Amino acid sequence: MTIQGLTHLGAGRANDDTLIPRTLPGEVVALRDDGTAQILTPSADRVAPPCRHFRTCGGCALQHASDPFVAAWKQTVVERALHAHGLEPPFRPIHTSPPQARRRAKFSGRRTKKGAMVGFHARASDVLVAVPDCQLVTPTLRAAIPMLEALTVITASRKGEVALTVTGSRAGLDVLVQTEQRLTDPLRIEVAAFAQTHRLARLTWGDETVVTINPPVQVMGPATVLPPPGAFLQATQDGEDALRAAVIEIVGDAPRVADLFAGAGTFSLPLAVGAEVLAVEGDAAMIAALDKGWRATPGLRRVTGVARDLFRRPLEPDELAPFSAVVLDPPRAGAAAQVATLAGSRVDRIAMVSCNPVTFGRDVAALVAGGYRVDWVQVVDQFRWSPHVEMVASLTRA
Ligand SMILES: C[S@@+](CC[C@H](N)C(=O)[O-])C[C@H]1O[C@@H](n2cnc3c(N)ncnc32)[C@H](O)[C@@H]1O
Repeated sequence: MTIQGLTHLGAGRANDDTLIPRTLPGEVVALRDDGTAQILTPSADRVAPPCRHFRTCGGCALQHASDPFVAAWKQTVVERALHAHGLEPPFRPIHTSPPQARRRAKFSGRRTKKGAMVGFHARASDVLVAVPDCQLVTPTLRAAIPMLEALTVITASRKGEVALTVTGSRAGLDVLVQTEQRLTDPLRIEVAAFAQTHRLARLTWGDETVVTINPPVQVMGPATVLPPPGAFLQATQDGEDALRAAVIEIVGDAPRVADLFAGAGTFSLPLAVGAEVLAVEGDAAMIAALDKGWRATPGLRRVTGVARDLFRRPLEPDELAPFSAVVLDPPRAGAAAQVATLAGSRVDRIAMVSCNPVTFGRDVAALVAGGYRVDWVQVVDQFRWSPHVEMVASLTRA
């Protein structure tokens, strides 16, 4: 079979529509009995995977493709999503985060006869693959795997799996354990001691933060914020830096900015160096964290945090009236309700950040229909070797 193109998940699509993961356009392949592909004619874009776990681990999908190929493919995905709405804006060159940059990872852990194993699942499978040399996560996260295995021994039920969300911070690791095992008093004491021994910054079990030894703060411009356990954080520091630079450039000298889907202040707090900011976010705990970070930082302009569901109650045109710039960074579902009211507003500039090309295309098209012009789009690839795409667009009221 000849591979014609890639699906949105990065799998090769053969001429007979068979989906064959880990193949590239133009390759001639044969399927082995076990379903894996034998590459008969490799693409010039095929490279040796940089990680020795790639063959078995499902964490990455595109390590067999060269960086330039992946960059061009991701940009094409975004271009197509915009073309579908008749839009052909200019693109700035893609920004790609380096290897070993993911500062947060959700590992899975399982008890074994010898102790425990922590890793990622094989592709479309519940088989767990150990990843001691993972090239995706930061060296700090990779070095934490033996500690996470010891934590799995304590926290996993005999047969079940634990999810271990680990986030790096300058104060140490912020670890969230999700397990079917119930947190009893003896376990509470045991994991608190474990966190001390392993110098974790914070350890949370389900909804309960068992111990905070050093608050795992994140730096957001001139402020530091203590995000709630497991709260959203941009995947790499490098990607966050690129997105923040783009957002700051788009907002320009706007004196008042509304940062919608603000999280814990990734954009609001840096923007407050020069502008008054209204930060709106659905998660009240994130807004509380943002507010605390703002109050503890001298020299910033006023930041007003509001917890509000922007799907059900988007800011209306009269509420948007005081703002000359808006930042939008919705979840994958996009911001349909909010762009509908923005389309009828007089807001001058919009920085639109998104992690879903399909809802991005839809939302940008609604803004264009409402009288905005797309100045440029940039893909920021902080999801290296995965099919995920992040992008930012600059829109100006025409
Ligand atoms: C992609 S994150 C961006 C967060 C922040 N801008 C950042 O860069 O860290 C999307 C945010 O939207 C929030 N969110 C999800 N659904 C929402 C809703 N219906 N209304 C308001 N905020 C929502 C999430 O809690 C999350 O913080």
